[in-house]
Amino acid sequence: MNSRNMKNKIIVTGGAGYIGSHTIIELIATERFEIISIDNFSNSKPIAFDLIEKITGVKIKNYNIDICDAKLLEQVFQQEKNIDGVIHFAAFKSVSESVSYPEKYYHNNIGSLLNILDVCKKYQIQNFIFSSSCSIYGNIELLPVNEQTAITKAASPYAYTKQVGEQIVEDYVHATSHLRAMNLRYFNPVGSHVSGAIGELPLNKPNNLVPVITKTAMGVFPKMTVFGDQLPTRDGTCIRDYIHVSDIAQAHVKALLKLIDSSNHTKRLYTYNLGSGNGVSVLEAIHSFEKVSGQKLSYTMGAPREGDIIAIYSDSSLANSELGWTCNYQLDDMMDSAWKWELYQKENSI
Ligand code: NAD
Ligand code: WQD
Repeated sequence: MNSRNMKNKIIVTGGAGYIGSHTIIELIATERFEIISIDNFSNSKPIAFDLIEKITGVKIKNYNIDICDAKLLEQVFQQEKNIDGVIHFAAFKSVSESVSYPEKYYHNNIGSLLNILDVCKKYQIQNFIFSSSCSIYGNIELLPVNEQTAITKAASPYAYTKQVGEQIVEDYVHATSHLRAMNLRYFNPVGSHVSGAIGELPLNKPNNLVPVITKTAMGVFPKMTVFGDQLPTRDGTCIRDYIHVSDIAQAHVKALLKLIDSSNHTKRLYTYNLGSGNGVSVLEAIHSFEKVSGQKLSYTMGAPREGDIIAIYSDSSLANSELGWTCNYQLDDMMDSAWKWELYQKENSI
């Protein structure tokens, strides 16, 4: 606890990124946390902090360093005293890129995790949250998946960094007497802050469904392809569990409060799925977008994307009951906010 203003000081790695920036906004809203970010803008832009400030009125201090540089990272922890917790978002996240450049993913995702856990160990940090992913489950037949579902061989180096990452977190918890940690397995985070004034701003051409939809509607892409329409699902297209990014962000607030409040518990490691619990097909997502935006989307049916699983969605009842967290937003809200953000970017030349 920071004695000056009685707020818990939290380091957020990847604070300029998609989920990190939305989480910072929700953390600020509680007035319980002082946030320090570490982000080297390898997949984001400094403007994210301007947008956070516009929405919250709070200017975020960011250390522009590579977390893989252990010396620089340690300097941050030396400088920032009384750190109460770390939320570790920073990682590379493209499944396809990880297949082409596995070394890039192993160095960055595993290297940064080891470094941040080393400083957490050395500086006796009590609370740690790790961004895991539904990709760790792979191709599962019995749906929905819950935390007890057996984890199968990783389908990509990216997914493997999350499988190994969870194990590393567990091992550090066991090797210390002070560290409490949570692995949060996100399903498909989409949408943007309800204001539409911040959202996903990746550096490379997007290939995830919702940014592809909004960029196509905006005319940035001439048309989009639905990857597979003859699959064994209700309308032939893939099923996913889309969850509003602000619901994911809210779950981090609950997760942090639970960790902080459970300082006298013997259990020090928790793992939760974070999904909406609803399986939504690609066509249902497109139709929701068309309805809320009033835009007619130009799309064609194509072959399934290599490596795509047919269907996955979450049983998030453990997070619902143990974190006291539920989703506030529905599919239409996700699409509406994503479209607002697309329009905002155009109006403001972002
Ligand atoms: P993002 O790319 O938008 O944000 C990650 C941020 O971390 C970026 O701002 C990037 O610049 C920063 N970063 C990366 N490596 C760094 C390093 N070595 N040093 C300093 N900064 C670094 O990604 P996101 O969508 O916000 O994802 C956040 C986390 O959630 C990641 O760990 C990702 O694997 C995980 N996740 C994301 C999704 C998703 O669909 N977005 C789903 C499941 C899990
Ligand atoms: C969603 C659906 C596509 C684009 C990825 C990662 C996963 C996790 C979440 C990080 C699929 C279809 C897409 C397009 C389409 N991230 N699609 N046309 O692949 O479910 O999950 O993000 O941990 O690990 O793999 O997300 O948004 O790319 O695709 O038809 O142009 O949309 O086939 O069914 P995905 P996505």
